[in-house]
Amino acid sequence: MNDKIYVYLSSLTGNTEKLAKGVLENLSRKNCSFSLHDNEFITSSGEIGELVILFFWCRRGNIDSASRVFLEHCKNKKIIAVGTMGGYPDSEYGSKVKDVVFQVISENNICMGVFLSQGKIDIQRTEYRKTLPPEHPHYLDEEGIRRHEESQKHPDQTDIERAGTFLEKKIMEYKAVSEVICVDREPCIKK
Ligand SMILES: Cc1cc2nc3c(=O)[nH]c(=O)nc-3n(C[C@H](O)[C@H](O)[C@H](O)COP(=O)(O)O)c2cc1C
Repeated sequence: MNDKIYVYLSSLTGNTEKLAKGVLENLSRKNCSFSLHDNEFITSSGEIGELVILFFWCRRGNIDSASRVFLEHCKNKKIIAVGTMGGYPDSEYGSKVKDVVFQVISENNICMGVFLSQGKIDIQRTEYRKTLPPEHPHYLDEEGIRRHEESQKHPDQTDIERAGTFLEKKIMEYKAVSEVICVDREPCIKK
């Protein structure tokens, strides 16, 4: 693509930043160019193009607050969302988070898809939860402790590659629908 794709990145502890920067570096080598807005406080929608990539993190089963504020500036955009979460993305809970994020984005925009990677959970949070009694809703059983330990390994190189494959496919899909046949029957790019 010749035009720069607008990218918004929200990251509190660095997981989403690592994922985003790894993916963008890989895709930049494949002729995609991006304008990256890294944890910026956006005050106007002027610069936001039709296609948007949103890198977010999962907060309380939903999209994080900075991404929400960013979305307030988006209307009728085509948004591809890539996020990190402490839980397993390929779980029932992961599917729920994807659905919620899809719904939030779709309120005023077209969501072209949501990809999730695991991201490390703050160690202090894990240690605190280990102290909770079994009757507490945030008690960590053995499976929970394993999930928290696994999160420390992410996002890794495989996550970056998977997110890149997902994004590349979605960008191609966007490009394909933006290409229309002009009156002279030659393909042309709809601006
Ligand atoms: C306040 C807060 C709330 C969180 N809520 C959830 C949650 O509901 N579900 C989940 O899977 N992970 C949750 N996490 C974990 C983050 O989604 C995960 O660590 C993510 O990778 C953080 O991204 P970042 O490093 O880019 O900020 C939460 C983390 C914080 C700090």
